[in-house]
Amino acid sequence: MLYLLKNNEDINKIKISCYIAKEVLFYISKYIKEGISTGEINDICHNRIVKYHNAYPAPLGYMNYPKSVCISVNDTVCHGIPDYNYLLKNGDILNIDVSICKNNYYSDTSKMFFVGKISKKALKLCNITHNSIYYALKYVKKNVSINIIGNKIQEYINNYNYSIVKNYCGHGIGKNLHEEPQILHYKNNSNIIMKPGMVFTIEPMINIGSSKTIVMKDGWTVKTKDKSLSAQYEHMILINNNNYELLI
Ligand code: MF3
Ligand code: CO
Ligand code: CO
Repeated sequence: MLYLLKNNEDINKIKISCYIAKEVLFYISKYIKEGISTGEINDICHNRIVKYHNAYPAPLGYMNYPKSVCISVNDTVCHGIPDYNYLLKNGDILNIDVSICKNNYYSDTSKMFFVGKISKKALKLCNITHNSIYYALKYVKKNVSINIIGNKIQEYINNYNYSIVKNYCGHGIGKNLHEEPQILHYKNNSNIIMKPGMVFTIEPMINIGSSKTIVMKDGWTVKTKDKSLSAQYEHMILINNNNYELLI
């Protein structure tokens, strides 16, 4: 249960890494069109990270992960491996998850992208997923238990006929991509108290159907067991002396 608090120097360096991750997500947005493959999207992100930002794509080689970003389409929950054989089609929703290492400091952010005209139910799922983070953030401040995050996300999601994925969680981040503490996105009673200098992600995965997930034979791609749509957004926050700062 040991986690690291960040000092001002750490925070400044984390912010540089965050700026790069955010820029890459913005840069890739103009390429998200019917017919492009997720493999090509990966390569564009890779080149932007390495050549333009002189940074490293943290997923590449992480526990043997083969690509530079994760791209999770439709019923893929997370960790989708970019693939030259998967061409985006009208109506697809996809999460692109960008994790950067710059000067030994990490950042991690993701959002949903839409291909052509998506269904109303897909758009609603994405909006509710994103809103659940902002709802929880209203309660985030120093000296409050970290379980407030999952408890409030669950309180919000309970208003809809959706489920929260339990097998994957948010995490501390800084000199490592994944640090303590774990951030659960569902009701829990973790007794870790938020303190100024904590930096962590909130990245709920919300499904239209059941919360059950399965890992594909590639060892990475996580899908919903019932093939229902899944959405995810990922933000990074810093606990400060008032409440929090949204880093990305
Ligand atoms: N971006 C993922 C996260 O949010 C981790 C990606 S590392 C990979 O924690 F190896 F799974 F790609
Ligand atoms: Co993350
Ligand atoms: Co991520």
